[in-house]
Amino acid sequence: MNQHLRAQAIPFIDVGAQRRRLGLAIDEAMSRVLDHCQFINGPEVTKLEADLAAFCGARHVIGCASGTDALLMVLMAKQVGPGDAVLCPSFTFCATGEVVALTGATPVFVDVNEATFNMDAASLKRGIATARRLGLRPVAVIPVDLFGQSADHDAIGTIAKAEGLFVLDDAAQGFGASYKDRRLGTFGLVTATSFFPAKPLGCFGDGGAIFTDDADLAATLRSIRVHGQGSDKYDNVRLGLTGRLDTMQAAILIEKLKIFEDEIAARNGVAERYSRLLGNVVTVPQLAPGCTSVWAQYTIRLPKGTGRDSFAAALKAQGIPTAIYYPKSMHQQTAYCHFPVADGGLPVSEQLSQDVISLPMHAYLDEATQDRIIAAVRGAIAG
Ligand SMILES: Cc1ncc(COP(=O)(O)O)c(C=O)c1O
Repeated sequence: MNQHLRAQAIPFIDVGAQRRRLGLAIDEAMSRVLDHCQFINGPEVTKLEADLAAFCGARHVIGCASGTDALLMVLMAKQVGPGDAVLCPSFTFCATGEVVALTGATPVFVDVNEATFNMDAASLKRGIATARRLGLRPVAVIPVDLFGQSADHDAIGTIAKAEGLFVLDDAAQGFGASYKDRRLGTFGLVTATSFFPAKPLGCFGDGGAIFTDDADLAATLRSIRVHGQGSDKYDNVRLGLTGRLDTMQAAILIEKLKIFEDEIAARNGVAERYSRLLGNVVTVPQLAPGCTSVWAQYTIRLPKGTGRDSFAAALKAQGIPTAIYYPKSMHQQTAYCHFPVADGGLPVSEQLSQDVISLPMHAYLDEATQDRIIAAVRGAIAG
């Protein structure tokens, strides 16, 4: 076996390191739930919702079963359906557009900015025009805070207002980041996030949350979360879901939220170091003015002539995992390729899908391990 193959494998995301840091606190929080047995809508759910509201500044927080449910519940509450168009970036995780299609509405895919990977305002305008030309009624836009960086909420909000659309921010990867000194969770009409374990703020299973300042919308979402219940539990006044966040996951998240600020700072330290030490060999991610990131992913672009597969193989041989988010944009996938795209096409999304690759990123990546990754990246580019 050669030297490289003996190198210890590095995790892509080290959930175990965080678990060790929090060990007893999480065990005790879970024991409390096991003692009181209120596994559904227990006191920890209410407490977490209050803690999340204090963290980001939103008036109302509704815990729910996943990030996908968070997005879907909002579209259900706003009665989005057939004939409606919802504008989404194509370069994103599939859930962003999937929820639109599930309501019977039409996702209209728009392009992203090459430097930030986030929704491009000019393409959004073209997408709205495309939707109208196709006889659809544009009702909403779903910007995504991709890879942890806040989208350009002023630019998107201005277009949405002028065109009469509501904004549903998909902060599944970006919760904890800010835009112009305001935390995500407070932009547009409503924000959705995910607590999938690999997210910057993740639980130990599936979970999500919705944030809004609109009290009526919050009340409707609480009803949809429990099968559309009315004032009486068994009087259902609308269609809904089993959309609740488990008490156990809420108890875990309460403990994780306590160290989240510290983890965000650590993630930023890791990202800053990657960018400083790799910026002259690959295209490193750019933060737009006024935007911060929680670095859900640290995603680079390879120089022309460097094959992505051989680059990934060279790192893998040294025990260093990489991942490709996303090898196909949504409009290139079988389930979504029949939906419209903004006039002019989505050349940036298509190019990014071909040349991005993400490196290990988490709050517990020590400098020695990061140096190994950096040396391997530099070696693979050179060689
Ligand atoms: C951008 C984006 N939107 C939505 C989701 C859906 O979240 P969940 O997996 O919790 O349903 C994810 C999760 O991967 C995501 O990355």
